[in-house]
Amino acid sequence: MTEMEYTKLGDTGLDVSRLCLGCMNFGSSQPWMMNDEEASLELLDDALEMGINFLDTANVYSRGESEEIVGKAIEGRNRDELVIATKVFGKMGDYPNGQGLSRKHILDQAEASLDRLGTDYIDLYQIHRWDDETPIKETLSALDYLVETGKVRYIGASSMAAWQFAKALSESDLQEYERFTCMQPEYNLVDRHEEENILPVCESEGVGVIPWSPLAGGFLTGKYDRGEEPTEGRATEDDHTEARFTDENWAVLDEVRTIAEEKGVTPAQVSLAWLLHKPVVDSPIIGPRTEEHLEENVASLDVALSDSELERLESPKSPVWSREIAGL
Ligand SMILES: NC(=O)c1ccc[n+]([C@@H]2O[C@H](COP(=O)([O-])OP(=O)(O)OC[C@H]3O[C@@H](n4cnc5c(N)ncnc54)[C@H](OP(=O)(O)O)[C@@H]3O)[C@@H](O)[C@H]2O)c1
Repeated sequence: MTEMEYTKLGDTGLDVSRLCLGCMNFGSSQPWMMNDEEASLELLDDALEMGINFLDTANVYSRGESEEIVGKAIEGRNRDELVIATKVFGKMGDYPNGQGLSRKHILDQAEASLDRLGTDYIDLYQIHRWDDETPIKETLSALDYLVETGKVRYIGASSMAAWQFAKALSESDLQEYERFTCMQPEYNLVDRHEEENILPVCESEGVGVIPWSPLAGGFLTGKYDRGEEPTEGRATEDDHTEARFTDENWAVLDEVRTIAEEKGVTPAQVSLAWLLHKPVVDSPIIGPRTEEHLEENVASLDVALSDSELERLESPKSPVWSREIAGL
């Protein structure tokens, strides 16, 4: 059995498991999610038993359902042992102020998330995206207040342009507000655009990095084949996963499959191991949908890759960042 490893999140003193459990699948707003509360609770229990102490959810995941399931899973557990991350920004109501990063919406949603999670504090509170309609100073002041009042321990952010993130960090320093200590970007072997955008900022500022979709929504598990319509898996229902079926990405997957075969491990394990070998990465956010996925993904911690294997995996693709590529 694989032994869980832990690391500090960026420059903070916070210990997190080297794999974070993504909780987006715990809900029913999309057909590709688990759509099964009991099975979700079992998966959460198994992950915690395996030593994962870091859980990532969001208010918008099935409009609160994911947070409620996480709340049930952690009920009665020692809260001190858990690092719970959630997010704010996306639409939670069809009315003015039902979304975004205004002081009002952030403070309302922090309380709502605390209620759904059944806890007194959030360890890592993240802005899910940049809000073009709210000054960053207002957002940072609201987040700073949440930290000052003990409702939040650390603050983080997710996919945005590097200039926006750098501006937010500098505004925090100027105003002496709490700083973002963590960034959650899309990052995996076929989506490497953040190497040309946010990752250099994180490296130079000591910000922790927790990649989302580390298996490209399942593409990197090798469950799909070139030239064939998907018949099972998320790609049958999710355009973002199917959009990864490009010549360049199939070439990356060929290399992943070859190396997996040479090492006697699976393509998913090689793909996660590649991320775990990146010094800038603290804890990829895995999104298992079954117990088998969870076990397979956690065992990637045991896979060592040489420098030449890392080069082979990266050689088919040269990363480029644009808003369009990043989906912003
Ligand atoms: N900040 C953001 O904007 C953002 C965006 C997306 C996600 N996230 C976070 O990142 C987490 C992970 O994202 P993700 O779910 O896209 O991660 P992912 O690992 O790239 O994709 C997960 C999907 O891949 C398949 N899969 C996973 N492990 C597998 C295995 N070992 N063998 C075969 N198939 C496997 C499953 O789909 P099927 O079995 O259905 O094919 C699963 O639902 C989310 O839960 C969420 O917390 C954040």
